Amino acid sequence: MSLRVSEKSSLSNWRKNMTDWAVSFKGMFNWRNKEVIYPTKEKKKSAAITKKEAPQKPVDLFEKCYNFTRADDVKAAGLYPYFRAIEENEGPVVQIEGRKIIMAGSNNYLGLTAHPKVKEAAIKAVEKYGTGCSGSRYLTGTLDLHNEFESRMAKFMGKEACLLFSTGYQTAQGILPTLVQRGEYIVTDKDNHASIVAGVVMAKGMSADFVRYKHNEMNDLERVIKRLPLEAGKLIVTDGVFSTSGNIVDLPNLVTIAKKYNARILVDDAHAVGVIGKGGRGTASYFNLVDEVDLTFGTFSKTFASLGGFVVGAERIINYLKHHSSALIFSASPTPASVAAAIAALEILEAEPERIDKLIANANYMRKGFKKAGFKIIDGKTAIIPVIIGDDMLAFQLWKELFDNGVFVNVFISPGVPPGLQMMRTSYMATHEKEHLDQILDTFIKAGKKFGLVA
Ligand SMILES: Cc1ncc(COP(=O)(O)O)c(C=O)c1O
Repeated sequence: MSLRVSEKSSLSNWRKNMTDWAVSFKGMFNWRNKEVIYPTKEKKKSAAITKKEAPQKPVDLFEKCYNFTRADDVKAAGLYPYFRAIEENEGPVVQIEGRKIIMAGSNNYLGLTAHPKVKEAAIKAVEKYGTGCSGSRYLTGTLDLHNEFESRMAKFMGKEACLLFSTGYQTAQGILPTLVQRGEYIVTDKDNHASIVAGVVMAKGMSADFVRYKHNEMNDLERVIKRLPLEAGKLIVTDGVFSTSGNIVDLPNLVTIAKKYNARILVDDAHAVGVIGKGGRGTASYFNLVDEVDLTFGTFSKTFASLGGFVVGAERIINYLKHHSSALIFSASPTPASVAAAIAALEILEAEPERIDKLIANANYMRKGFKKAGFKIIDGKTAIIPVIIGDDMLAFQLWKELFDNGVFVNVFISPGVPPGLQMMRTSYMATHEKEHLDQILDTFIKAGKKFGLVA
């Protein structure tokens, strides 16, 4: 693709801004390594001296916002892939900017957001309960619908109890700082989802401790956990299916280590429920380890075609969370329409497990197609297929080429992913038909050839 001069200068500005942004942002919180960076004593001391000696000058808190032009530069270059408004949504095909586009980046795994029964359940709930709950679960925000979802979900997942939150992100924040307290440890995979990272940061802020281990490396998990005090409570937290790579956690070895070091286990099954395990019961079920996993949390925003979050586990633990979790107690409960839609989606999941087979068959068809065409992908068994591009600019250009030719995917660039792993994160639905999949592949191959990614 040839760029106009103004686009080229925008792009070089953008490259520079991106680097500055990454450097300044990482000073506080390193998203790639998912860690909080604390100033060392020396740095604090030199900062204090500099402060005393340097002439004082007022600083505007908003300066960083005015200086942030990275997104504008990408927009000026015509390559901005984010916040694209969808005007109509049938599932595998959406309308954006008046054009029909095949969606290959949604987490609507079973394609239920457009299912007539799910829509009808949401509409009926609005008619019966109104549009919102206007209160937290703790006080005036509990509906019989919330209780119904909780008991059905607990049963589905083979656990004693379930607790609903307003989003999956909030669920992580509701669990981690509540359960892991002063003198106790969170042991977390370096590639865990941002919601877990936020929960860990919150728990740390409330005096808990945490240690991290290399992504899905059980030797490293053992290395870090064996150094922790025997008498300290420990919670190992991991994604079941990692959201960027689609990798499945090595749960059997994780369980062995948890038992050896007396740790509890929390699994984030956002991308696993409805995708892997018996009848879509998630990661623990996939490995036949339902009784060994203490807590599993998930979201309505993927398989359940709605908005909300949940955690399942033993009744005593759920009861404790119910009475101590500030993310639950001080935030309004999920809307009637959201919960009714999720109940309908759960019913469909239970009644039609063949949808999962179709989802996995679709993803396998795509994996085979990408590999045959010569694309570098992260192989796997889930609904997520990352196609590795390896360069920020190339990733944006390829994204635009795919978009202009009718395919929507998610583009992940650095520092969100490590350099070299910049990718098109593609994901599939049970409702993609073969024509959709062939068109996605065909468009990828044409674009891949144009940018020299495949021969
Ligand atoms: C692995 C994982 N956990 C948690 C969440 C948060 O879920 P929600 O969208 O309900 O906030 C997501 C959503 O992106 C996710 O991918």
